[in-house]
Amino acid sequence: MDKVGNSFDVAIIGGGINGSSIAYQLSKMGRKVIIIEKERLACQASSAAAGMLAAQAEIEQDGPLFQLALKGQAMFSTLSSELFEYTGIDIDYVNKGMLKIAETEEIAEEVKKQVAFQRNWDPTIKWLDSKELREMEPALSPSVSGGMYLPNDGHVQPSKLTQAFAKAAVYFGAEIRENTEVLSFIYENDQVKGVKTTNGIIHSNQVVVATGAWAAKLMSESGLDLRVYPVKGECFSIQTEKPMINTTIFSDKRCYLVPKRNGEIYIGATMIEDTFDNKVTPGGIATLIERATQLVPQIKEATWERVWSGIRPQTGDGLPYLGEHPRWKGLFVAAGHFRNGILLSPITGKLVADLLAGRLLDEVLHSAFLLERHKETAR
Ligand code: FAD
Ligand code: GLY
Repeated sequence: MDKVGNSFDVAIIGGGINGSSIAYQLSKMGRKVIIIEKERLACQASSAAAGMLAAQAEIEQDGPLFQLALKGQAMFSTLSSELFEYTGIDIDYVNKGMLKIAETEEIAEEVKKQVAFQRNWDPTIKWLDSKELREMEPALSPSVSGGMYLPNDGHVQPSKLTQAFAKAAVYFGAEIRENTEVLSFIYENDQVKGVKTTNGIIHSNQVVVATGAWAAKLMSESGLDLRVYPVKGECFSIQTEKPMINTTIFSDKRCYLVPKRNGEIYIGATMIEDTFDNKVTPGGIATLIERATQLVPQIKEATWERVWSGIRPQTGDGLPYLGEHPRWKGLFVAAGHFRNGILLSPITGKLVADLLAGRLLDEVLHSAFLLERHKETAR
């Protein structure tokens, strides 16, 4: 292809949920955008996720990540209808809340403290004792001590959301190039000018690295030793004849059960550090079955559906990198969303699109996500 056909305002590397969300926001602003994806859209973490929008269940203290997560969570209702209008894709947004279960009296004390903290942001959050929990979800084990009810922690179908972002970006003029791996960057003086790929050169004065757990590998090509390491998560799912649970059941990051709109219940997830190997092990699934049946014993009688896994991008401090390269102008990173990349995807798209246009969503908040902190992130 000639230079013009391969010239874009912005080249986004990575066709996961974050690359696709950024492409959507930028294309909507009228920028000429390309997504370059090594394999296929949503082929990695963004199709493995459970899709929980668990700002309150997953993040237990105030700080930049929590504030970003709340902003992201608030975008889903409008986003769901907006993306449907542009693409016809229903992202299966369900907003029936979540129960963060305390399995023991000791954990109950902790969860009660979280209720008090979380009510600062959402007064509808409340503590339910064991009896009240089982009135809401009769399938829960009588052995649970109680739990926090989070009416606003919903969920979506992550691969549908990724596809919807990408299709909406195309609707606004974006191009998607799959089966194309970015190998390195091109610079002129201090400015990025494009990327070298397995299918030739792409010219662009702005490049966004949205390669999830693979960000460290690509960023080393730019001379930056960015800390991003893989944390594998394995999951399985079941089908039940009648709905077994209505709300998401979440227990202390060890196990969660997410009832999807199609009748499937997603059950996840293991946390295995430092491997890019996507294999699903019997040991991993056995652990999940044991944890899940402690919460909802009836799942033993359900119909087995499938297993899968994905690689979470961890940065060490749990915060994503959302910022410009300290050395190369025009080279940006949006990666490292760890356990919350689906929840954070709409706000990531907005924040990064604004950043490329020279605007900051919120200066104080944004400073927490800069790449420069990579040297301090400890494991
Ligand atoms: P990815 O989806 O990994 O996409 C990166 C893309 O970049 C890939 O498609 C890859 O092929 C491509 N790529 C890599 N290198 C190159 C290159 N050199 N050139 C071109 N392309 C390249 N988050 C939530 O919010 N809620 C949840 O309930 C949730 N559950 C999860 C459960 C599991 C089991 C796992 C594994 C994760 C879960 N997450 C959840 C986290 C979430 O999935 C991730 O944070 C998110 O998907 C990261 O998206 P991404 O677009 O940054 O990366
Ligand atoms: N947020 C759920 C997970 O990462 O497993």
